[in-house]
Amino acid sequence: MEIIIKKDYSEISSESAMIIANQIKAKPDSVLGLATGSTPLGLYKELIRLHLNGDIDFSNVTTFNLDEYVGLSNDHPQSYSAFMRDNLFSKINIKKENVHIPNGNHPNDKECERYESLIKSCGGIDLQILGIGSDGHIAFNEPSSSLGSRTRIKTLTQETVRDNARFFDNITDVPKFAVTMGVGTIMEAKKILLLASGNSKAKPIKNAIEGPISSMCSASAIQIHPKTVVMVDDDAAKELKEKDYYKWVYNNKKNLNL
Ligand code: GLP
Repeated sequence: MEIIIKKDYSEISSESAMIIANQIKAKPDSVLGLATGSTPLGLYKELIRLHLNGDIDFSNVTTFNLDEYVGLSNDHPQSYSAFMRDNLFSKINIKKENVHIPNGNHPNDKECERYESLIKSCGGIDLQILGIGSDGHIAFNEPSSSLGSRTRIKTLTQETVRDNARFFDNITDVPKFAVTMGVGTIMEAKKILLLASGNSKAKPIKNAIEGPISSMCSASAIQIHPKTVVMVDDDAAKELKEKDYYKWVYNNKKNLNL
């Protein structure tokens, strides 16, 4: 794992956008795995800015989103489809047919298998963006999710429902189910970039990076992924025991131009 500790949210957003820009420059037909939530919003703003500047061309890029709520129509403002359209896709030159989001309206096994096959038929995900939930989940792989799990329907924890209630008028409006890529699906991405910002992410980040690999914190699976970058700000890094070492590694590498 490469652990990069930045000053604040704004630095995380611009640095992670550079990683994506470089990925697309190196492989214009990259397959990106995308996440929702408030964490990647700054990254998406930065990608839009780079695109408008002429620095990123999304015309050959394909995307797969991690997850979608069950039971919200695609145009429901809190559906992840609407989130992605409003915060990224409508502002860049990505082709509609290259955008893929799990179908939360027909969440059956066949539909989940179709999503998995589609990822494979596009050559797999080159770079997967991840956030982290306060209980350490990635996508919607809540505690006890098998580390080998594939795309399927998951019941959200009460904590996740509470966390996500801020986006809805009422907590009772928050869906209790989601279709989500599994931990096994995510681990097949060639590269992973996990982002976290703020004090509320300090504990899950500590568990994911320095805790045991466990289905109780699905993000801890990144410890066995061969190419993961974790980009966090000082607040999210504050409980890391080896924080100084991670900074030391990063600064020494920078000096060597690695
Ligand atoms: C949801 C999403 C996750 C996201 C998490 C954290 O549970 N399914 O993909 O990482 O929220 O969201 P935020 O970035 O808003 O803290």
